[in-house]
Amino acid sequence: MTKVGIVGCGTISKFHYEGYERAGAKVVHVCDLNIDAAKSVATRYGARVSTDYRTLIDDPEVQIVSVTTYSKLHKEVALAAIAAGKGVVCEKTLTDSAGSSAELATAADKAGTFFTIGYMKRYFPAVQQAKTLLTDMGQIISIHARTWQAWDWWNCEIPKEYRNHPSGVINTNGGGILVAGGSHILDLLHFLAGRPTNVCGQMYIREGLDFDTRANAMMWLKDGGIANLEACWHPMSYAGYERNGWDERIEINTAKGRLDLATPMWNKPTSNGALLVHQDAATGRTTEYRYPALNPFDIEMAEVVRRFECGEPGSPSAWDGYVVDELISQITKSAQTQTVCPMIWRDR
Ligand SMILES: NC(=O)c1ccc[n+]([C@@H]2O[C@H](COP(=O)([O-])OP(=O)(O)OC[C@H]3O[C@@H](n4cnc5c(N)ncnc54)[C@H](O)[C@@H]3O)[C@@H](O)[C@H]2O)c1
Repeated sequence: MTKVGIVGCGTISKFHYEGYERAGAKVVHVCDLNIDAAKSVATRYGARVSTDYRTLIDDPEVQIVSVTTYSKLHKEVALAAIAAGKGVVCEKTLTDSAGSSAELATAADKAGTFFTIGYMKRYFPAVQQAKTLLTDMGQIISIHARTWQAWDWWNCEIPKEYRNHPSGVINTNGGGILVAGGSHILDLLHFLAGRPTNVCGQMYIREGLDFDTRANAMMWLKDGGIANLEACWHPMSYAGYERNGWDERIEINTAKGRLDLATPMWNKPTSNGALLVHQDAATGRTTEYRYPALNPFDIEMAEVVRRFECGEPGSPSAWDGYVVDELISQITKSAQTQTVCPMIWRDR
């Protein structure tokens, strides 16, 4: 039975520890600076508790360390886990900079560490089906991707707690909507359409805030296709296919047809399944792929445990995490310099 330690017992950790336990692994040690947060998880599983992640990493029983604390701490904690010979499951984003992510991915490679990054949306059956269908859909013409999440920064006074830098948003995620929401879509774009060759970005940062509430990017794809991304915290509480403000969709147009993919709200994945619609260009035949409302974190954790126990590498990999961070970095640079930025990949 695989034994797991969790570093950071906040919002996202629940999806890890519940997923591990459902997958037959055992949570044996949990850590948080906030001892009460750690204790509330530990009592569920009879796990040991610590407030220093090094104590957890030194625990000989821990085989996999889930890094579920702030993105700015991922590198430090993950490097310590790699040095101690543990497997690592790191929440997204991999780190808070492309350089750090490349460093971390290199260290994981060198040590032969089992390492995976928490882009769990790849595990929606609808996403897997889209990937399969694309193999027979010819050249990509264009992609329109959006992640719109209901959080109204457009009609409100800026609350006091967000006026200082670094704000809570920057502290937790390392960035605004491009990092918090856009990262998932950039990962799906990379998974479905490969690595872009150039990017052009634009970001809106409201005066008084230190993070973007809307970010756009145009990304050149290898075979002449183009991908458009819009990430936004928006005021439309009823937008989206679930009519709950969650509006995350990808439309992929190819030489042979169109795919439309919609995902359910990230923290309520069991309310609705992701939806995939395929239209054949020549016949107009339209197929709707409906799936049960599955929790992609559960699929991800089951896959982590299976792969770890079989000695297979983690997927998505640390380098997949790096790709997203490099895209974020170049989109941000493009927005700041108002230039098109070529993608120069540090692992090639
Ligand atoms: N996959 C997803 O869809 C998804 C969704 C939300 C958040 N995330 C990612 O998860 C990570 C955590 O986000 P969150 O929303 O759970 O944040 P959170 O603030 O709810 O939880 C973070 C926890 O880490 C603890 N912590 C801080 N410093 C620590 C340290 N040195 N050692 C141990 N614990 C420490 C905090 O006390 C807190 O309990 C971020 O990287 C975020 O990007 C991913």
